[in-house]
Amino acid sequence: MLETIEQTKQQFLLDLSQSDTLDKLEQLRIAYLARSGRIAALFEGLKSASVADKPVLGKSLNELRSFAQSQFEARKSELDGASKPKETSIDLTLPGRPRPIGTKHPVMQSMEEMKRIFVSMGFSIASGPEIESDYYNFGALNFPPDHPARDMQDTFFISKDVLLRTHTSPVQIRVMEKQKPPVRVIMPGRVYRNEAISARSLVMFYQIEGLYVDKGVTFSELKGTLVSFAKQFYGSNSKYRFRPSFFPFTEPSAEMDITCYICSGKGCRVCKYSGWLEIVGSGMVHPNVLKNVGYDPELYTGFAFGFGVERPTILRHGIDDIRLLYENDVRFLRQF
Ligand code: PHE
Repeated sequence: MLETIEQTKQQFLLDLSQSDTLDKLEQLRIAYLARSGRIAALFEGLKSASVADKPVLGKSLNELRSFAQSQFEARKSELDGASKPKETSIDLTLPGRPRPIGTKHPVMQSMEEMKRIFVSMGFSIASGPEIESDYYNFGALNFPPDHPARDMQDTFFISKDVLLRTHTSPVQIRVMEKQKPPVRVIMPGRVYRNEAISARSLVMFYQIEGLYVDKGVTFSELKGTLVSFAKQFYGSNSKYRFRPSFFPFTEPSAEMDITCYICSGKGCRVCKYSGWLEIVGSGMVHPNVLKNVGYDPELYTGFAFGFGVERPTILRHGIDDIRLLYENDVRFLRQF
């Protein structure tokens, strides 16, 4: 009989290993542990055993029963756990925790709007390196060596011939070297100037450069382009004016002013009581610049312009200190 007990145990373990659902496990319980089950039947058989064998057989039957019982319980709680979610799991009815979503930096917001306006006028977008050679930043742009015009821009030199670009105009040269006319591009990017940091100036800021070269491009097209841009960006009520200016890489050169949109031209601290704000430098591309990139100045003409992005941004939002833009104070930045 001891053998039968052992066989029953082995068979039970085999059946248990195949009971992979609660239903099958219940079948197993009925087959082995219920009152009419196999273990109860073995207890029944005990009655006919000899008095001498009874204690040993009884003990091992009891062991089998409690072993089977505990194996069954263990398996049951395993299967229960798999089908029911754990008590500790999340309360799906709770409201979600909001995650703060960043917003675009005010300078990038202006940049994107400016780009959109020029793209709608048919300009494409190009870019160039911030670390430049003296040639691209000055030489190719018709700054003669040792010419005082270089002093207009306080340059961070890395070595004698390598520098941080002081304007986005070197990208004009890089674009024209690679491409034949017609060329109609804007070139946004960071520029660097060794100036004292103040409420009005930074050592790093963004510019957008524009360039249009083709046969028969005229100064009136330059004016038309800038006026159209200004009306879209600053609003159609702002007045504008062009003043003659000087840049080595344009001839003639002009700066464009718009009526101060803080005081609408009446005069205030921001416009230094002139009623006007200078917003962009521009001019017709100098014939020497066209020659430097291998364009024939007898055949082609073009215009170029360049302006900073930070000043329009602070003016537009009524910010009185340009340094706030780059201090990364979220209390400030959240407002835009
Ligand atoms: N590069 C000039 C500046 O930084 C701006 C400019 C660009 C002027 C193109 C004329 C033509 O001041």
